[in-house]
Amino acid sequence: MNDKELLRAAQKAREKAYTPYSHYDVGAALLTKSGRVFTGANVENASYGLSVCAERVAAFQAVFEGEREFEAIAVVTENGVTPCGACRQVLSEFGPDMRVIVGDTHGNSREYGIRDLLPDFFTPADLK
Ligand code: THU
Repeated sequence: MNDKELLRAAQKAREKAYTPYSHYDVGAALLTKSGRVFTGANVENASYGLSVCAERVAAFQAVFEGEREFEAIAVVTENGVTPCGACRQVLSEFGPDMRVIVGDTHGNSREYGIRDLLPDFFTPADLK
C-alpha cells in the first residue's frame, strides 16, 4: 500500500472515532513490514484518563495479530498533528526506523521519521 492509500485508510478509520468529550477525531493506518495494514481511531471514556489514542489502537491490533515490525503509520486529524509522546514511544518499540505520515482533512500531508519525533527513545535493549 502506498502513502496516499495509507492516508486514505486513516481518514476512513477516523470515522469510527468515539470522542463525545473532546470531539477531536483521530484516525490511524499502520503498515507492517510484511505489508499488512491495521487501522485505529481514538476511543474516549467518561473517565477521561482511560481514553486511548488512535495510534495505539492500531499498533496493539497489529501486535495482537502477530506483527512486530512496523514500516509506517498514517495519522489523520482535522489539523494534521503529529502523534502524542506516549504513542511515539509505543510505535518506536516496533518501528525504530518507521515513517510517520501526518495528514489533515484538507488533503495536506507531511512525513517524519520516528527518530525525529522522539530522539533517543527508550528501547528494549536498555533493559539488558
Ligand atoms: N489523540 C489521539 O488519538 N492521538 C494523538 O496523537 C493525540 C491525541 C486523541 C486522544 C483524545 O481522544 C483526543 O485525541 C484529544 O486529546
